[in-house]
Amino acid sequence: MKLGAARFVAGETLKEAIEQVRLLNKEGLVVTLDHLGEFVFDEAEARASTQACLDVLDAIHESGVVSNLSLKMTSLGLDLSKELCLKHMHLILDKARQYDNFVRIDMEDYAHLDVTMEIFDELKREYGKHVGLVIQAYLYRTVDDMKRLENEYETMNLRLVKGAYMESPKVAFPNKAEVDTNYLKIIDMHLQSGHFAAVATHDDNAINHTKQFVKQHNIPNEQFEFQMLYGVRPETQRELVKEGYAMRVYVPYGNDWYGYFSRRIAERPANAFFIIKNMFRK
Ligand code: FDA
Repeated sequence: MKLGAARFVAGETLKEAIEQVRLLNKEGLVVTLDHLGEFVFDEAEARASTQACLDVLDAIHESGVVSNLSLKMTSLGLDLSKELCLKHMHLILDKARQYDNFVRIDMEDYAHLDVTMEIFDELKREYGKHVGLVIQAYLYRTVDDMKRLENEYETMNLRLVKGAYMESPKVAFPNKAEVDTNYLKIIDMHLQSGHFAAVATHDDNAINHTKQFVKQHNIPNEQFEFQMLYGVRPETQRELVKEGYAMRVYVPYGNDWYGYFSRRIAERPANAFFIIKNMFRK
């Protein structure tokens, strides 16, 4: 597992991760760094994850690489208490604002959606353009959530994804075709709202749809970017840069790679072959 994960994780240390960011930047790719971790139930561990996020922001500032930060609030103690998580988020966002950087709150499983929205609203009012959220196309409620966010705030930088967790058909479209259709719908909706859209997908159909839509509606390239995961479709990432699009790579690093890597296998079982291939590599 660990050998396979190496393809999707930029190293165990921050130093290694910053080196990878530097290499990606050289090729015209921008980055969002993620210190791996989620579902933390221990206060000391949540404090350590918070410190790791602060270290990432310091390292980005000091090294001068082009990157912002992505994080999962369950790594900051969300399951221990909302207050603890908020306290940690304030520390992180104070620093992001000081450096004029940006923090993206990843969206986790449905059980955490309401509390994530509550915390996001509180932080958004205080930190404005320095904080953004992720919206998942597989949820029935997503269009309503987006409408509210787009209308309520002056700027609403959203990362649009299909959704990566196993959810009940009570809350999420059970068929991939329906998710794909809703994904295109929310891309159009958010681009047309005038807010910034991060179209995070490896799906050629969604990428081509976005290219056509922005052309048809005269949406400038500054109003959106494509995002992909580190290690996934690296050639396509570079082609998009050559075509003149902003391309941000999500670069995870650290030891806690198991959950992240398991989701990549669930999305594409062929990724498991990389493990086997690496296991037998001399
Ligand atoms: P889809 O799964 O339809 O795949 C389309 C094609 O892309 C596949 O046929 C394959 O060729 C290629 N592909 C897709 N996944 C691959 C993989 N893992 N390895 C190799 N090839 C692959 N989810 C979430 O719930 N909360 C979040 O906060 C985020 N954050 C996030 C950030 C970024 C930058 C990205 C790119 C994705 C996320 N996701 C996420 C994950 C997202 O919800 C979704 O699970 C994956 O992106 C896979 O869906 P696609 O849109 O790529 O399409």
